[in-house]
Amino acid sequence: MWHFLPITALLFSLSDRTFAEVVQSISDCDHYLINHTPPHVPGILENGRILNQNRYKIICQTYRNRRRFVTLYDVQNKIPVFSAFRFVDQVDRKRPKTYWKIEPQMKNYTYQASNKDYKANNTFDRGHIFPSSYASSKEDKESTFTLTNIVPQAESFNKGSWNKMEMCTKCVMEKYCINSSGGTEGFVVTGAQPSLNSMLNRVNVPSALWSAFCCYSAVRGAWIASGHWGNNVQDESKHKYLETMTLENLQHILGMSNSEFVMFPGTKCPLTTTVTEFYPELKNCPCPPTVSGSITSPPSHFAFIFPLFVYSYLHWVSC
Ligand SMILES: *[C@@H]1O[C@H](CO)[C@@H](O)[C@H](O)[C@H]1NC(C)=O
Ligand SMILES: *[C@@H]1O[C@H](CO)[C@@H](O)[C@H](O)[C@H]1NC(C)=O
Ligand SMILES: *[C@@H]1O[C@H](CO)[C@@H](O)[C@H](O)[C@H]1NC(C)=O
Repeated sequence: MWHFLPITALLFSLSDRTFAEVVQSISDCDHYLINHTPPHVPGILENGRILNQNRYKIICQTYRNRRRFVTLYDVQNKIPVFSAFRFVDQVDRKRPKTYWKIEPQMKNYTYQASNKDYKANNTFDRGHIFPSSYASSKEDKESTFTLTNIVPQAESFNKGSWNKMEMCTKCVMEKYCINSSGGTEGFVVTGAQPSLNSMLNRVNVPSALWSAFCCYSAVRGAWIASGHWGNNVQDESKHKYLETMTLENLQHILGMSNSEFVMFPGTKCPLTTTVTEFYPELKNCPCPPTVSGSITSPPSHFAFIFPLFVYSYLHWVSC
């Protein structure tokens, strides 16, 4: 059995000065978490403690000697449970030309996905969990290209509805997640739901991906949040959008009957509201179409007829 050696013994740099630090406790790498508190993931990470420390590892994703984000990694499925990060002002917008990095601390390939696992499969992309497009600087972006931050993701889902969701949420954060000192600041947690037995070589193909964000919006004078969930299957149409949901709904999907999932514990992140009301104000952003503040996916005749009915009724009453 290969054990994780004490951290100090493992802090060696490679020629590209890349390394990821496997830390014992999430409190060693919590600056990307709102309130310095990780999500409560039933059966996996409860009250900041990992229940099965042999299977789940906290990776403080470090690149060029700087910590960039944090990943909770499942060495059995060889995919992340989630990556958490802080969205700030974009310094660089280009996707970097880079290569996929392996964590030296996990370089025993028994424990993590390798390039070979993902090679030459056009059904599945290497789907980023912390997207490169959300990272601020060129180096922050490069740091997301690590094999512990990706999952096999259905190609048209990755490039289609999931990508639109990422871009729309980014637009929301850029416009509304302005903190009290005028800086852009949003907290994002993105994760994967492992499947029971779908594999790409040695790597679990997750059945679904999910993402949530929360921030204080000084421009709105309130905390705002939303979540998304998408099955990891090819998009059935180019016009597909993921439905924006409340944190409460997302937590309900991710929870277990006896234990609740809590995305942002101990915070003021709203559980029962979303940011869909802002979508019509965002220009050139691929947000789901909205009609008078409500999402029209899937479009139902009821959604159109009902307001008309109410309007006629109210009109009739007021006459
Ligand atoms: C990697 O881990 C496996 C399983 O514990 C072990 O059999 C193997 O010898 C290790 N390889 C290296 C290079 O440490
Ligand atoms: C506001 O966000 C910036 C990042 O854009 C951060 O450096 C700063 O600490 C934040 N200020 C407060 C008061 O949270
Ligand atoms: C990609 O991986 C899936 C799942 O393992 C497999 O069914 C499919 O045939 C692979 N495609 C190619 C081109 O290798």
